Amino acid sequence: MDMIIYLLLLFVLTIGALTLYFFILDHLWSLLQLANAFLAPLFLPNKDGSLSKKYGPWALITGSTDGIGKSYAFELARRGLNIVLVSRSLEKLNKTQQEIESLYPIKTKIVQADFSLGKKAVDIVKEKVEQLEIGILVNNVGKQYQYPMYLGEVPEEELWDIIKINVGATTLMCRAFIGDMKLRRKGAIVNIASGSEHQPLPLMNVYAASKTYIRNFTRALRYEYSSDGITIQHLAPMFVATKMNSFSDRIYQKSLFVPDPDSYARYAVAVLGKLDESSGYWAHGIQTFLVTLPPEWIRMYIGGYMNNLFREDYLKTESLKNSEADKNKKVA
Ligand SMILES: NC(=O)c1ccc[n+]([C@@H]2O[C@H](COP(=O)([O-])OP(=O)(O)OC[C@H]3O[C@@H](n4cnc5c(N)ncnc54)[C@H](OP(=O)(O)O)[C@@H]3O)[C@@H](O)[C@H]2O)c1
Repeated sequence: MDMIIYLLLLFVLTIGALTLYFFILDHLWSLLQLANAFLAPLFLPNKDGSLSKKYGPWALITGSTDGIGKSYAFELARRGLNIVLVSRSLEKLNKTQQEIESLYPIKTKIVQADFSLGKKAVDIVKEKVEQLEIGILVNNVGKQYQYPMYLGEVPEEELWDIIKINVGATTLMCRAFIGDMKLRRKGAIVNIASGSEHQPLPLMNVYAASKTYIRNFTRALRYEYSSDGITIQHLAPMFVATKMNSFSDRIYQKSLFVPDPDSYARYAVAVLGKLDESSGYWAHGIQTFLVTLPPEWIRMYIGGYMNNLFREDYLKTESLKNSEADKNKKVA
């Protein structure tokens, strides 16, 4: 009997010790990443021109006529890379191309493609850049809900587009370019996920789940290809002040923890080749550390609570807009 109690106690103690060990290890790792997020760009800056030497002369950025993707294009052009811009609107592509060329002495190319078309869009991109040596591929394009919603409220086409764009485009674009990078034994792939990947996220359920896919996909891809000389980076930004967040001023306005896309991209590009895993911005490093401390179920509840606040912001603004429109109609 004593022996059974002794073995049971030993078992419980071993499990407890192992749990504590992994908990500490995990959070020490987060602390290390936090220190890295602060220090890497200061002490290990990428010299201008070094990215094209290291990876190749052209960078292709998906979703590059607005927000983070556009800022990435400008930052990589500033560092001397030739730029391929990819998005849906030809007008925005032309405008962005002119803006870049007026600022930097580099070559640019535009490709009009809609990633909600799946493989067709990837084939178009691949064909248009066949002659170019793509050294850096930034899988930035992403689709989010219009505002935080319950699953049943999100139109089916929108849900399907989120899966095709966030999951499908990232996967097939990696597949399309990684072979050439492997042959050249150099190249970099940057997959932009999101801080929403850290836990299930009510009211942005499918978006967050698609970003968790990107995280796991990117990590496994690194395992498969890093020995071929390819850098495979996973970025998980928190809020950045772009149109994607226009449903609530709390995250659409720039602040200490909500950088504008230029500040974000400048920092994120500075850690390319230095950190394989990063939030991409120093203040987001602090947030990631704090956000990932509590257990997942607490994080999920906090996320759901915040999304309810953003949802109320959106619905309030919409109802104000509607009553203004009604008033104007009556006056007319
Ligand atoms: N903003 C944030 O707070 C935040 C936080 C975490 C992660 N992220 C991630 O960062 C990435 C960029 O987000 P963002 O906020 O910069 O987005 P954004 O401001 O909405 O810009 C989206 C860009 O993608 C293009 N685009 C949209 N749908 C497309 C499609 N179907 N096919 C091709 N191009 C398309 C848009 O141009 P056209 O409309 O002309 O096509 C635009 O250039 C996304 O993956 C997002 O999930 C953003």
